[in-house]
Amino acid sequence: FHVEWDLVQAEKGGYDSFMLKEIHEQPQAVRDTMGARIDPEQKRVILPELKMSDAELAMYDRIYIVACGTSMHAGLVGKDVIEKWTRVPVEVAVASEFRYRDPIYTDKTLMIVISQSGETADTLAALREAKKSNVKVMAITNVVGSSVARESDEVIFTWAGPEVAVASTKAYTSQVVALYLFSLYLAQVKGTMTAAEVAEVIDHLEEIPAKIASMLEDADQVRHFAESTKGVSSLFFIGRSLDYAVSLEGSLKLKEISYIHSEAYPAGELKHGTLALIEDNVPVVALATQPDIYEKMVSNIVEVKARGAHVLGFATEGNYDLIKSVDEVIYMPATLPMLTPILTVIPLQLLAYYASVARGLDVDKPRNLAKSVTVE
Ligand code: AGP
Repeated sequence: FHVEWDLVQAEKGGYDSFMLKEIHEQPQAVRDTMGARIDPEQKRVILPELKMSDAELAMYDRIYIVACGTSMHAGLVGKDVIEKWTRVPVEVAVASEFRYRDPIYTDKTLMIVISQSGETADTLAALREAKKSNVKVMAITNVVGSSVARESDEVIFTWAGPEVAVASTKAYTSQVVALYLFSLYLAQVKGTMTAAEVAEVIDHLEEIPAKIASMLEDADQVRHFAESTKGVSSLFFIGRSLDYAVSLEGSLKLKEISYIHSEAYPAGELKHGTLALIEDNVPVVALATQPDIYEKMVSNIVEVKARGAHVLGFATEGNYDLIKSVDEVIYMPATLPMLTPILTVIPLQLLAYYASVARGLDVDKPRNLAKSVTVE
């Protein structure tokens, strides 16, 4: 017998879509992005690609992260991580807004632009504006030779491999990993983390690829919830702190490939207005992985449950308390709270994927969208 493999199918590696293939490539993409940037003996981060000296890097006292879409969502995780580990204030801005602002630059300002394609018009425009003010620009991009890579002063490449599906998945997790590595390196040169603290994070980072793989094996735990969204008209994602940053990414994934309207909301904000939208059977995805605000998050979940919401909770393995307050729970393997976003996003990607498939849509090429928005 012979196997019918057309070229496109072969490139999909046997998966039904490029998106599903790329979701499953994430353990490797994360491993490759960590790659040679961790010194296994010293348990330190090394960034040989950085041209600037450690002394120069340590001098920066303010960071702007500028990007679009999913890349901006990676930047939101990066903000919390950089601020916590290095105490350098970070502002995250959407490139299409930032490029028209009059930002406050000093010679100690660093701009980080994040772009999978490295060709996004608004991100490139923001980069070029910054260069006019002689701001140091560091890119995090997935495409060697891209305009963003060529026009930035520094580049940290994500090694996710070509990302074909319009909905970005492995690029996002690779961008978040690149931001963890950069944050650790910055903490090393600024002395804001001890060697032991850096080593502890690195030990947990090295376990992430296997933890992503284990979640991909349990893909079905989110599939039936996804298929139950077939008839819904709107869905809420709620979370606090890092969980809020990831909920924005979950909401974008669902909207762009299943066309189901959804909204990510800071859980603490519900009572300031949008709780009015919650009524019987409104589906709510509640992310509750961050221990420092877990109790507050549970009280927000109780608020929406009391108004009839159908709640899919996300909790860390071992937490068997959340199930008492929600309808079903997706469990994330335990890791450091700061690293959890990279695990939480996996079932959110799958939620969007299965919701889109349930609606018989073209997962890889959603309507109205392009893989790289090179026009403004
Ligand atoms: C991601 O799922 C979207 N397709 C889109 O928001 C994308 O992240 C955005 O256009 C930015 O693209 P870039 O990372 O190539 O700059």
